This record gives sequence, C-alpha cells and structure tokens, in this order.
Amino acid sequence: MSLQSRMVGVGAFLPPGIVTNEDLGKLMETSDEWIRQRTGIEERRWVAPEVSTSDLALEASKGALEDAGMKAEDIEMIILATLSPDHDFPGTAVFLQEKMGLAEIPTLDIRQQCTGFLYAISVADQYIRCGTYKNILVVGAEVHSKGLDKTTKGRDVSVLFGDGAGAVIMSATEVNDATKDPHLISSSLHTEGKYAKELWLQAPGMANVDTERLTQAVMDEGLHYPQMNGKVVFVHAVKRMSQCLTKVLENTNTSIDDVDVFLFHQANLRINQKVADMMKIPSEKCFNTIQKYGNTTAATIPIGMHDAIKAGVLKPGMLVASAAFGSGFTWAAALWRY
Ligand code: COA
Repeated sequence: MSLQSRMVGVGAFLPPGIVTNEDLGKLMETSDEWIRQRTGIEERRWVAPEVSTSDLALEASKGALEDAGMKAEDIEMIILATLSPDHDFPGTAVFLQEKMGLAEIPTLDIRQQCTGFLYAISVADQYIRCGTYKNILVVGAEVHSKGLDKTTKGRDVSVLFGDGAGAVIMSATEVNDATKDPHLISSSLHTEGKYAKELWLQAPGMANVDTERLTQAVMDEGLHYPQMNGKVVFVHAVKRMSQCLTKVLENTNTSIDDVDVFLFHQANLRINQKVADMMKIPSEKCFNTIQKYGNTTAATIPIGMHDAIKAGVLKPGMLVASAAFGSGFTWAAALWRY
C-alpha cells in the first residue's frame, strides 16, 4: 500500500463566443482552407471584454469540484498554469482564490506555457505523496484573444490560439494494486532554454534594454505580441513529444496497447498525427479537441480530459497517456489511471 495522488474531479469551461476561420478572414488575410489544412482548426472561442483568465479558471474549478462531490473549502492548495495571467503580478491563482472565497491556503502559478498543466499535476503529486496536502486544485486557464495581433502581420500566430480553462482536483489515495487503482503513475518534465526566443512574448519585460519595461517604440514594433518560428516549433514538438512519451511508457513497462486514451497537447492536429504515426498509436485512441477550440495552451489537456469523459471515451479505470510541448522550449509526458 502506498500514498499516491489521483484525479477525483474534472471540469472545463469554454467561453460562449465562437470565432470561425471565416470570421478571422474578415480581420486578416487568411482562409478557412489554409487554417484547416495546416492545423486542423475550424473554430475557437474568444472571451467578452470583461472576462479574465481567473474568471474562466473559476468556472472550470466549479465544474471540477462538482464532479468530485467536494466543496471549495476542501481544497488545501491551488496550482494554476497560464501564460496569459490576469496581471503580471500577483499570480492568477491569487485572483482565483479570492473569487472562490477560500481561506488563506497557498497558491502557486506555473509558467511553463503549453506544458504547464503536466508540470502542475507533477508538482501537486509531490505535495500529496509527501503527505503535505490531501486535496489540490490544479487549473490550466488562458485568455489568448486579448493578446494576439489580429492583423495580417500576426496571422501565423493568431489563427492558432483560443480561450478556455480546464481543472482537476488531485487527491490523496492509497494504492493497493498499482495495475488497477487510479493514480498518477509517472511523469517526465523537460526544458531547453536555448530555444526560448523561438516562441515568446518579448514585451513588456525587464530584460529589454530600456529604462521602461514597455515603450511606445516597442509597441510600434509589435513586440507586445507573441512571436513564433512555426517550422522550428513544429519539428521540435514532434521529436520531443514522441521522445518523452516513449520514455514514460518504457520506464513504466507500459505498451501502446495498454493505454486506453492518448491526450496530446493541442497545438496542431498535424503535430499529433505525426507523433501518433511515429509511435504507431491507432488514431482512434487519440482524443483531439483542437478542431473546436484551437490551442488553449495550459488548458488543452484538462479540457480534453473533460470532453473525453463527456463523450464516453474516457471511463474510470482507464489508462491515460499525455504529452505536451511548448514555449521554452518545455515538454513533458505523464501516465495516469483515471
Ligand atoms: N493564413 C494564410 N497564410 C498564412 C497564415 C495564415 N494564418 N500564416 C502564414 N501564412 C503564410 C505565410 O506568410 C507563408 O507565405 P509565403 O510562402 O508567401 O511566405 C505561407 O503561409 C506558408 O507559411 P509557413 O510558415 O511555411 O507555413 P507552415 O506550413 O510552416 O505552417 C504553422 C505554419 C504555424 C501552421 C506551422 O508552422 C505550425 O503549426 N507550427 C507549430 C506551431 C505551434 O504548434 N505553436 C504552438 C506550440 S505550443
């Protein structure tokens, strides 16, 4: 018998505003055909002006609590992954804690972009297995729409991303039979900082050579919008996701056949198809949501989990393998029994 962590509740929230590829074609020079062919994306969600990242996180968290049959007061810590915080500081988890009306529990923001959710569950798992906390709320939430260059200049990035949030409650569990009992079995986390500038948001920032962190000149250059070297990101994403997923499966003596559902990060359907082809993963085992939501960065994996459960694809007792890649570069994989 050993103390482990498991996911006892899953929630997601997508803002109602649907933005189709045709809608984007009215803002910039792009087309439904280009976006679909290169990425698989058909539509994404954008928030209304008054909605923030912590608002989306709150709704997803409520769903996770309800699914777990728990009250907000049962939560002992919040870990929130986002690259689109409500404000530069304090962290977005602070705002979520206030909105949930929670007492003085610790909050932690994770800044690992598309890999953020897998980093977050791994951190939660450590706290739980040490016996520090029993119930941790882990959230991935993003509002991209307010931070994108929606002109033709920014089209390579802006067509990819969407807004949304997903949340899980991770709780302590005693595992008697590791081959059957739900728990987080293994995770593998990586970073290669030399590629930080291949996908990044330069400004505002204290590393910029100026006396101010944001100047009109910087904004005129568009450095307050994300910049990406799409081809480099694509190649590394395929290589790293397959590499670390293979490592996690090997380390746990798990075969592709053993896994019931593969939940990949949702950056580009072609990336996921390439990873699946290379690893000989049957496409029916891969659950993708990018067609409807675009890339919601730290939220893609919990949203995928939520939708897979609702679709009857992911059922209690099933084995889930996940892999993600993103800005940093960071990448990660994890294996859990739901
Ligand atoms: N609509 C229409 N045309 C576009 C466009 C858009 N939204 N974005 C770029 N283009 C144009 C380019 O300007 C280029 O035109 P040119 O040939 O006249 O110069 C042409 O389309 C091809 O661009 P290219 O960059 O070669 O396309 P690509 O096949 O590499 O696909 C991505 C671009 C972004 C879809 C692809 O590189 C990708 O998905 N990369 C990974 C991105 C990612 O996953 N990011 C998040 C990581 S977590």
